[in-house]
Amino acid sequence: MPRYANNIAALKALIQPERVHRDVYTDPEIFRLEMRHLFANTWVYVGHASQIPNPGDYLTTDIGDQPVMASRHTDGSIHVFYNRCPHKGVKIASETCGNTGKFFRCPYHAWSFKTNGSLLAIPLKKGYDGTGLEETEAVRGLSPVGATHIYRDFIFARLAKTGVDFETFFGESLSSIDNMIDRSPEGKLVLEGAPLRYMHPCNWKMLVENQTDTCHPMVAHESSAGTAISVWEREQAKGGPKPMAVEVYAPFMAPYDFFDKMGLRVWPNGHGHTGVTTSIHADYSAVPGYFEKMVEAYGEERAREILGENRHNTIYFPNIMVKGPIQTLRVFKPIAADKTLVESYTFRLVGAPDLLFERTLMYNRLINAPTSIVGHDDLEMYERAQIGLHANGYEWVNVQRLYEPGEPEDVTAIAGGTSERQMRNQFSAWIKYMLMSMPEGNADDSKFHEAAE
Ligand SMILES: [Fe+2]
Repeated sequence: MPRYANNIAALKALIQPERVHRDVYTDPEIFRLEMRHLFANTWVYVGHASQIPNPGDYLTTDIGDQPVMASRHTDGSIHVFYNRCPHKGVKIASETCGNTGKFFRCPYHAWSFKTNGSLLAIPLKKGYDGTGLEETEAVRGLSPVGATHIYRDFIFARLAKTGVDFETFFGESLSSIDNMIDRSPEGKLVLEGAPLRYMHPCNWKMLVENQTDTCHPMVAHESSAGTAISVWEREQAKGGPKPMAVEVYAPFMAPYDFFDKMGLRVWPNGHGHTGVTTSIHADYSAVPGYFEKMVEAYGEERAREILGENRHNTIYFPNIMVKGPIQTLRVFKPIAADKTLVESYTFRLVGAPDLLFERTLMYNRLINAPTSIVGHDDLEMYERAQIGLHANGYEWVNVQRLYEPGEPEDVTAIAGGTSERQMRNQFSAWIKYMLMSMPEGNADDSKFHEAAE
């Protein structure tokens, strides 16, 4: 018996300013509604243009539960379609990426499509003469998604045909992507190396929340990062430089005070980042020759400004995280209410010394790989939370840390780095985009939390 579909009061009751109901993490119906509404109304990351540099190149991914593909057309333009043949519904491309040549060809009946999605040919076309096929959607080719926007090579799409436009949706938050790109002396990133992928037996939102949860590293990562530090303390008596791996691990054990002082910024529509003044990425050793190249490209003042911005984790709502100073991007792909696929991508800064990319790859391996010791600390916490949330007696998850009663929602603001304001910001956006396409959705925001009592 559906309890939440089109039941706006019931949905609003799940989200209170300082706590959220467990159903948002565990209920399969909520998950289905997220796929239908939240992931259709928001701008979702599809991929990076450097993955499909040549005509005929394509990549496949999912927006929520919808299989999509992005392809590079002969004129260089990028198109995003649903990955489905209009004939019998067969998935057109099954690889994560590749080159299709001049056209896509459905493997079932050989209907073929140009790389901009339009129908190229149907075998035995005569058999459709007089059937009215030309009046159907089937001859329009591969269905495009509602809207596509490419921002400095980052491909985003919105499934819904109408809704909030790209610039309004992301606003100032794009400054984190800008900073990551500007760190290249040529102002260009190339996605390089295969993504690290692994499945998590938990709700996708737990992973997104974890990205700005600064009260867990010194606790959950004590056994991994803490051990790395103690090994280094023992070994450093022997002399020699601090290994890159220790530089990566050590800040995870920074005290609460460090994380609090680094600050947190929220933006409208659920975006936000930790690391306003400093971050765990601020004290890496200088890479020889890099600063000189940046000065050559941008002038000293601008180069210092770009490199002085050390944002920690930037959440692009709903489901990616960008780490500018280390050039990684993580995608949290919802599979089921209790299943999430995490993909962690690495970028090379074009024109920068190789050592920077080495550090990026090392960071990704040490922190985000299926074999990472740090990632598994978190994985166990998510897994336990997904199980624990089924325990009866209390039905809420607390997001109250540094909450000020009456705190404005959906605004730009700065808070202490250990605040849970970004989690609250995500839930404020969550309910907004869940309701946007429901009947009477988005009509009366003042009643957001009223029905909860
Ligand atoms: Fe963690």
